[in-house]
Parts: sequence; structure tokens; C-alpha cells
Amino acid sequence: MASGLSFGVDWYPEQWDEGMWERDADRMKEFGVDIVRLMEFAWAVIEPEPGRFDFSLFDRAITLLASRGIRVIVGTPTAAIPAWLVDMDPSVLTEHPTRISADFGRRHAACYSNPTYRERSLAVTRAIADRYGAHPAVAGFQIDNEIAFEGTDRCVCPACRSLWHGWLARKYGDIASLNASWGTVFWSETYSRFDQVPVPRRQSGASQNPALWLDYDRYMSDSVVSFSDAQIGILRAVAGSSKWITTNFYPAVLSNAVDAEALTEKMDFASWDNYPVWGDMTEPDPWMIPAFRETLVRGFGGTGLFTVMEQMSGIQGHVCLGHLPPERRVALWTNQAIARGGDRIVYFRWRTAPFAQEQLCYGIFDTDDRETERARVLRGNIKVVRETFGSFAGVPVKSRACVLHSKDDARLLREQHLSKALKPAGAPDWMNPGYDTELARWFAPYCVLNVNADVKSVASVKLEDYSLVSLPLYQMADPAFVERLASWVDSGGTLVLGYRAGARDLSNRNVAEPLPGLFRALAGITVPRFEALGDTTARIRVGLFPARGGVWADLIEPETAAPVAYWADRNKFYSGLPCATVNRLGSGRVYYIGTSPDPAAIFLLYRRILKSAGMKPRFFGEGIEIVDRTTEDGREVSAILNHTARRRRILGAKVGPYGIAVAEKRPM
Ligand code: GAL
Repeated sequence: MASGLSFGVDWYPEQWDEGMWERDADRMKEFGVDIVRLMEFAWAVIEPEPGRFDFSLFDRAITLLASRGIRVIVGTPTAAIPAWLVDMDPSVLTEHPTRISADFGRRHAACYSNPTYRERSLAVTRAIADRYGAHPAVAGFQIDNEIAFEGTDRCVCPACRSLWHGWLARKYGDIASLNASWGTVFWSETYSRFDQVPVPRRQSGASQNPALWLDYDRYMSDSVVSFSDAQIGILRAVAGSSKWITTNFYPAVLSNAVDAEALTEKMDFASWDNYPVWGDMTEPDPWMIPAFRETLVRGFGGTGLFTVMEQMSGIQGHVCLGHLPPERRVALWTNQAIARGGDRIVYFRWRTAPFAQEQLCYGIFDTDDRETERARVLRGNIKVVRETFGSFAGVPVKSRACVLHSKDDARLLREQHLSKALKPAGAPDWMNPGYDTELARWFAPYCVLNVNADVKSVASVKLEDYSLVSLPLYQMADPAFVERLASWVDSGGTLVLGYRAGARDLSNRNVAEPLPGLFRALAGITVPRFEALGDTTARIRVGLFPARGGVWADLIEPETAAPVAYWADRNKFYSGLPCATVNRLGSGRVYYIGTSPDPAAIFLLYRRILKSAGMKPRFFGEGIEIVDRTTEDGREVSAILNHTARRRRILGAKVGPYGIAVAEKRPM
């Protein structure tokens, strides 16, 4: 068993009769738990009145857990405010751009820029730091809970309005620069003072300038990051490096205004909450989606590892339920996260709450407190996965390929989604997960063809670490980064560009040259015409094989590039034109894919791309996932996950239905 692998549960002692705690702690121990997260919503418990702190309940809970050898993760409770805070200052409540303001009683009800909320948040964090900053049973801290989620990444309250004006003045210096950058000559938008600039809100008809939204999201991100950094500063001042600090992300991390990379910069690693099926979903996400999200979160913080702070256990929803995940699938989601670099898995939640908004979030145990099938399967799985994956779980994942994301492009797409397919139906009105979903599609080839890939940002990627890089939806191209890419390609790198590459500059202006703008010479093409395919697809041909493209259709005119796939749809006037090309440059290559390829196209295109980049694609059928890992003693192994109900033999190893195995890698 590796020291690197840890299992835990999210436990809410304040929601239970204290007479149940001891049995809980004993059963946790027996379950295989070595860590418990607590306190992240307990502000009113630990500070019942302003400035009067009472940690006695948590002191007793932590002492009890420690007596069983279980350590804790303490959450700063700022995601759920106490009623006295609203009494103190009703303006703490956040106001969403839909013009709906929060009322007391929901979580994420306060505005991150509000001075009273900030002051009281820092005071409670200080009290936590004093109490637990040096406590031997505390392993680490979680900042807030799913910070800026559920619509609070955008607030348009009066405090935000005035801070926003200051932010703009600092960024632009004079109003003429803002006017020039945003193109406010359009529709008479010209401003003469910063305080004339509105906070962007949902309009009933035509929308406001996308440049306004883009800057607003940048402002909001800075506000949330400084809120979190202030908490980190307080905790570090007491705990130093003796405790780690993290925060837990929600599913569509990129589509939130907040820059997750900036948010985690001062943290030790990033965490995320794994709910492949939730609420009214009638099917879980395909396994490539959690694979993408786990890899994305692994990329923040630079440790090559991450924590699952909430691994769903039972069926979950707030007001409505859908699909019940079979227990062995929940076990497999656990194992998938470990294969992809999760070295700490915390299950949500120990026991279903008897009351309130999460009565429908079923945990490992139910309110009758009897043994469940979930407990039986997950307990058994902890033993199996420790044995099977334990030897590599604490060793960072290595990859030679990488899919890149860009924060500003994600923000832009939220307000200007380009194609109906990039605004998935059914998403709540406070987010558009389209960018995340499309990035996941561009990550899928690496999953299906079983080649390790990282997910990193254009802002921090070290190109020299990779031989192959995919860059989808990179509209706002940074000339300095394009230059770095060009010299990396010249010295042998393989770049896969996606549709819309280079269409805008860093101020979001349409470029003044043929598309793909700054990438024209690199890609060796022009793209004078295009259309959005919305929720339809069009036939394409890759070599002799039929496949389909979705989302977008670029009508490519090669200059120095050679076509690798064509539009082949009788209903499209552009049938016969290339939809994907390759351009050789120096010792490298640049592929351009002017659509979102379907699974068949992915398979055909990426088999070729991977081989040309010197990598070995491996396909064992759609439900087989392989991640290559290095063990603590330096062996190269392949972690195998079987997402199907059939027994399989893969790389010489027997893998049962929904099972896992490890194969030693043969020398190439
Ligand atoms: C998470 C959240 C938890 C709980 C859970 C319910 O997103 O962090 O606090 O609400 O969902 O499924």
C-alpha cells in the first residue's frame, strides 16, 4: 500500500445527535477512512453572535476522530452566511446580472466585494486559524466551498459597481483608451467618465458589448481571488507550511468568470467535486468527461496530483432526482480519479441529511443508519484499489501531450457562444458550460486512444514539456504565445489548432487579416468562409472513411498545407472543400481542424496525428481507459479501467466488468 493514497468522507457532526458520533467514528475507521472534511457550512455554529466564537462542538468532534487516528480538513465556512450578518448589513446580499438578488437562506448569498462580508469572513477565518492553525489533527484547510459557484461569480450590487469603476480606471488610465479598446463608437456607447460605465446585466432584447462582459468577468475574478488570497494569508500566518490549503471546484470550472489558475496559485493543490450524474440527469456523463475534468484540475497548482473533495456516493439532487448510479460505477469513478492523479478521495457524504435543502443528496448511509449496498461496495473497493493502484497513486502523472485552454476565450464564449452547440440546452441561467464541454471533446481523442495528456492553460504551459499540443477555440490570440508556438513547432512540436483560432486580438477585436489571423503562416491556410452547425452535424471524409463534423464548419483554402479531411455532405454547397489540413514547418507539423470531429473522425484523425507526433495510439474499444503511471519504485505501468459490463483481457491483464487492473509496460 502506498503512503500517497488517502480516503475520507464529508461529515457534518452539527447535523447529528452527538450520541451517534462515536459509532460514526468507529465505522469510518472500519470503512478505511483516514481523513474527514468538516465545518465548511457551519459559520452560525462557530460564531453564533458577531465576535462570539464557540468551537466546542468541533473541538469534541475533532478529538473523537483523532482518537481513531483520523485527521481532518477544516473548511472556512464563508459559503453560507449567518443571519446576524444580514442584520448587520443587508447590502452583503449579492445581486445577479439577471437582476435577481439573493435572499438569506440560500448558500452563496453574499457578494465577495462587499466590505462587511469581507471583514466578517476574515474575522471567522482568523478565529479558525487561531484555533486550528497548529492543531495536530488538522491536515489542511479548504477555502470556502465551491467558491463563486451557483451564479456568484457575477454580482452587480452597488459595492461592485463602484469597485468596477476603480478597476477600469486602473486598467485603462483614461476613458479614451477604454472607448478605443471596446469600440464604443458602436451604438453610441461612447463614455466620457468611468462612472458612466454600467455593470453588465441581462437585457430583454439586444445584449451589451461583449468587451464590457469580458472586462467585468476579469474584474469579478480579481475580486474573488483577492477574497480567497486574504483567507490564505491568515491561515498561512499561523499554520505556515505545516498544513496544506486547497479549494474545491465544481464541474464546469472553465466556464466560470473566476480564473481557477489564479485562484489556486497560492494554494498547495486544487480539489474538485466529482458528480458524473446529478439532479434530473437520466444518464451519467460519458467517462471521458470526468477524465477531462480531473485532468484539468490536476493541471492547476502544478503538483501533477489533485484531491476529490466530494466523490458522490448515492443518488443526488436538490429538488429532483434522476439516474441511480450502480454502486460498482461509483467505485469505478473513484478508481478513475485515482488513475488520473487523485491521491485523496473524500466521499460526499457520510450520511444523508434528515432535513433541509439536501435531503435528496443521498450519502454512503441513509437516515435509518443501517448498512447499505453503497457502503459494502465502496468499503470493498477501497481495499482493492489501495492494492491495485496504491503503488503509483502518490506519483505525479506524466504526459507528452497537452490540451490547452484560455481563460479569456472561455469568458468570451459565455456571452457570445458562436454556435448553438456551444450553449448546451438545460444549463442553468447563471452559466454556460459550452467551453468546458468543447474542451472535453478535444480531450476525448487522448482518452479513446489511450495516450496520456495534460490539460494546461496558455498562460502557464511549458511547451518544452510536450511533443503534441491541441489548441481548440483559441480566438483571442496572444502574439507572444503564437511566436513561442512557432519556434516550438519549428523544433519538432506538433500543434493541432481548432476552428476560430486567431480570429480576435487580445482586446477582442476581429483581426484585420484573413483567418486564422496570426496562425495563417503556421497553419498554411486561409478560412474565408464558415458557418455554425448548431445542433446539426455534416458528413466529412477522412481518407476514404466517412465520419461527421459538428458545432462549426470552416471552409478551408490551403496555401502551403495539405488536406487531411474533406466536407462530404450532399446537402452542403461546400462539399469537397477541406475541413482539416496539415502543414509541415521545420521539424514539426501544424494540423488545423475546422470542425468538432465526431468519435469516428476523432479516431481516424488522431490515429494519424498521434503517430506523426511519435506517440502510440492504442484502442481497445470505447469503454476501456488506460492511464500510464510510474510507481514509487520507478516501474512504468498502465492503469486499466473497464467501463463496460463485459469481462476483458487488456495488455495481458484480466479486467472484470467495471473493474480495474494494472499491467507492467513492456519495453518498446
Ligand atoms: C456540491 C457541494 C456540496 C453539496 C453537493 C450536493 O456541489 O459542494 O456542498 O451541495 O454538491 O450534491
